[in-house]
Amino acid sequence: MKVAVIGAGTMGSGIAQAFAQCDAVETVYLCDIKQEFADGGKSKIEKNLGRLVKKEKMTQEAADAIVAKVKTGLNTIATDPDLVVEAALEVMDIKKACFKELQENIVKNPDCIYASNTSSLSITEIGAGLKTPIIGMHLFNPAPVMKLIEVISGANTPKETTEKVIEISKTLGKTPVQVNEAPGFVVNRILIPLINEGIFVYSEGISDIEGIDTAMKLGCNHPMGPLELGDYVGLDIVLAIMDVLYNETKDSKYRACGLLRKMVRAGHLGVKSGIGFYKYNEDRTKTPVDKL
Ligand code: CAA
Repeated sequence: MKVAVIGAGTMGSGIAQAFAQCDAVETVYLCDIKQEFADGGKSKIEKNLGRLVKKEKMTQEAADAIVAKVKTGLNTIATDPDLVVEAALEVMDIKKACFKELQENIVKNPDCIYASNTSSLSITEIGAGLKTPIIGMHLFNPAPVMKLIEVISGANTPKETTEKVIEISKTLGKTPVQVNEAPGFVVNRILIPLINEGIFVYSEGISDIEGIDTAMKLGCNHPMGPLELGDYVGLDIVLAIMDVLYNETKDSKYRACGLLRKMVRAGHLGVKSGIGFYKYNEDRTKTPVDKL
């Protein structure tokens, strides 16, 4: 199977790694709007696999073979994939344009499946007007590790496409859960308001950053506390999903916390910008920062 991953950011490179690690996949095209972005995604994969080699969980030869499957470039290299997974920016017009370009000018395989890794946008709207309807294939960060794939059917997604994507998800070693289209699907509908609520708790001075994270880790057995997880997901992504939940429902329970919006405006996005609720140090340690 050949797979094209569109967008080489955190999710795109993680998804490309997850596919490249699968024996049934011979090639992964990792594409972005600039060659250097695509190459940056491939470097992240090499770094991740390098850690596994160092921990003696993988041989160097196996890591090299996985990396060799990943071909980087602009979208135009993706001429013959069996599956496209789009992980571009969470902007409706960008996603729509991306699929249109691929379907009309680039992909020659008439049986190619087109999937979006959108974390909350409407699959039906992304796919509107396209020759081939799309499906949601939502992986979680870190994509090579997290077991779940939400398989989201839009209003026009054919049943056979859903069945094929469920099969592909199992081949990847993941557990698919079928989901009907709705804002935030299942996980983000529940998880992102939880993170937002953690930010409210912090902004109201109920506890400090480490206190809130420790409380939720030890009180609920979550692997990460809400503020740490918000930083990990990206606070811009958390805000974008809260705004989608609010705009789609107009329910005030989905209003984004003011502090979250302020942090995003200030470029304090979490791990990817080096600062969010925590400051991320070179030696992979982190320290809580003062409130903005
Ligand atoms: N890529 C590849 N592998 C990774 C990785 C990455 N980015 N990060 C961690 N790993 C691997 C490690 O190599 C390690 O593998 P082994 O067990 O084989 O050694 C394993 O994951 C555990 O990693 P660590 O020992 O370094 O650290 P940890 O035990 O603290 O686990 C974690 C790290 C898996 C990220 C864990 O803290 C966790 O599960 N956190 C919650 C993650 C979560 O909730 N993700 C969902 C976010 S929401 C989302 O993604 C949806 C959306 O649309 C916004």
